[in-house]
Amino acid sequence: MTLENRLQLLRQQIREHDHRYYVLDAPVISDSEYDRLFQELLVLETDNPDLITQDSPTRRVGGAPAAGFSQVHHRRPMLSLGNAFSDTDMKSFIERVCRRLEGADPNALSLVCEPKIDGVAVSLVYEKGCLAYAATRGDGVRGEDITLNVRTIASVPLRLLGEGWPDWLEVRGEIFMPLEGFRQMNQRLQDRGERPFVNPRNAAAGSLRQLDPAVTARRPLDISCYSASAAEGAQGLPASHAATLEILGRWGFKISPEWEQLTGAQACLEYCARLLARRDSLRCEIDGVVCKVDSLAFQQRLGAASRSPHWAIARKFPPREEMTRVLAVDFQVGRTGVLTPVARLDPVAVGGVTISNASLHNMHAVQRLDLRSGDAVLVCRAADVIPCVVRVLRERRPPGARPVVMPSACPDCGAELEYSLDEAQVRCAGGVSCPAQHKEAIRHFCSRRALDVSGLGEKLIDQLVDSSLVQTLADLFRLTHSQLAALKLMGDKSASNLIKALTAARQTTLPRFLYGLGIRDVGEVTAANLAASFGELSALMDADEQRLQAIEDVGPVLAPRIVRFFRQTHNREVIAQLLAVGVTWEPAQSTSASPSSQPLAGQSWVLTGTLETMDRSRGKLLLQQLGARVVGSVSARTTAVVVGEQPGSKRDKAQELGIDIKDERAFLAFLKEWNLEP
Ligand code: IVH
Repeated sequence: MTLENRLQLLRQQIREHDHRYYVLDAPVISDSEYDRLFQELLVLETDNPDLITQDSPTRRVGGAPAAGFSQVHHRRPMLSLGNAFSDTDMKSFIERVCRRLEGADPNALSLVCEPKIDGVAVSLVYEKGCLAYAATRGDGVRGEDITLNVRTIASVPLRLLGEGWPDWLEVRGEIFMPLEGFRQMNQRLQDRGERPFVNPRNAAAGSLRQLDPAVTARRPLDISCYSASAAEGAQGLPASHAATLEILGRWGFKISPEWEQLTGAQACLEYCARLLARRDSLRCEIDGVVCKVDSLAFQQRLGAASRSPHWAIARKFPPREEMTRVLAVDFQVGRTGVLTPVARLDPVAVGGVTISNASLHNMHAVQRLDLRSGDAVLVCRAADVIPCVVRVLRERRPPGARPVVMPSACPDCGAELEYSLDEAQVRCAGGVSCPAQHKEAIRHFCSRRALDVSGLGEKLIDQLVDSSLVQTLADLFRLTHSQLAALKLMGDKSASNLIKALTAARQTTLPRFLYGLGIRDVGEVTAANLAASFGELSALMDADEQRLQAIEDVGPVLAPRIVRFFRQTHNREVIAQLLAVGVTWEPAQSTSASPSSQPLAGQSWVLTGTLETMDRSRGKLLLQQLGARVVGSVSARTTAVVVGEQPGSKRDKAQELGIDIKDERAFLAFLKEWNLEP
């Protein structure tokens, strides 16, 4: 085989595997096999730079940073959409369409509904099947050339698959940041002390605006494509929107899996209601549904007004951002003593949930926002994302707005404050003698994933601590029925229930107990690793740093922290008391070899679809506690696949490969065997 042919073959194979992995979510080779192909291509290209082509998969990353973005003239304007805010608006749109089509029947019209993804619109132009350039919408007529950045997005084909595409093809779509990636990226930014993005749309826009494509390449961006057009008179594109989406899929583009072809207005209204109900479980943020006339001939006849077409409409969902006012900024003391500024807000409904508090994270964030007490602010609540203040509406600042000042002592116990080196983090030095930290410690100890005591809410904990009934965690188990029944908001029945819950909670597991102790930075996974490695508590309590550092997840920062925790007399006393009041667990096998002797060690699991009893991150954690590796895609090496509702292609793939498939019920039963619950 000639060198040219080998290069061509490698590129074609890699392209196909990229498409299977990034677009179809169904890879057929292992990561290492893929790496070998990629490496071979890279080496051949490095040795023969004159044979490098712009559409080579190796060209996604890299390229020199641009000095600025040049302008691109859109061949057809990039329009925006008219809005429908109610079912009535939506029906009127369809009736209007039918009137304009002179007599079409609103109950028989073929329409396509798709999620309206909240990202950044992009135009991708392919010449002879290769990505020639990519541009932002800009003002609709002229956009910015963001080709170098878009090339780094793995789900954007650099070269089209299949055949039959027109020589000049423009595909439009939305570039977005999936919620999971958004959360992880923001966490990383915050960990590094950098400013997090306020929502996935800003994150996607910010990532695309980078002058250095290497930065964009590191951002978890994705695309969903929704339209295609060719040069006038060209062949190759179908006659309906639904068929266009299908053919785009065959050419390698990622299409929203939620699109549906529907007949009549009523079906569209039902689609909107269905999608709205699933909004919080989708992998990306959406702000509505786009409803389009299916027939492209009809679309042509309907035409467009100056800014939006007559053949499509956006059914808007309730906004995730609303304006409200900051009534005050308080400082909340967390379990580990960190003071967090919290904006107390004039309550406002955002996306169906009333928000009255928003964490401001730390004083740096307050300064960045330039937020004052009394300010008008924009607050946001995205799917699963905690409420946050997006920005201050400076033009509406009232004359008496007061700057936020860090208190000089702990607002709860008056103890002095300790500042971190960069002063971003401020901590109360009072430890468990600080009632706020003590209350948080109790709440954490009783939380679902620790000892799981139901019926012990915040107000009750306040009363128990304020009345000195609970001075240490062990006091919880000494509470009597009459003490509880005498408290505010507690009756005979709720007192009995709480006593019952406390009795049941005494029988726990070592990982839950360790997690519940609230050692700083010992989350569930670390607690499970500690338990698996030591098998029993006393060995862990006497372990030195070196022994601890041998455990997965425990590094040079955490090891001394764990040692310090177990050396403190107060903590040792509380643990002894807890054991004395009957907190107990089944002894586990000590596994000094750690993860390899965990029950699912060496296994690779995949979770797909929506689970009813837990979110996927919880399922993942439980599997990790058992030692499994949880990966994103199914391959021949996968041990088992857990499938929830709407599992998509991963289930089919598992079936094809004959891999063990567990539905939610089977998964729950399996977890139960290991004493794990959702
Ligand atoms: S169709 C002329 N379909 O919404 C038709 N747009 O307000 C224009 N968007 O700029 C676009 N998802 O960025 C269409 N499935 C979808 C969409 C979608 C998101 C965005 C797009 C556009 C804006 C229109």
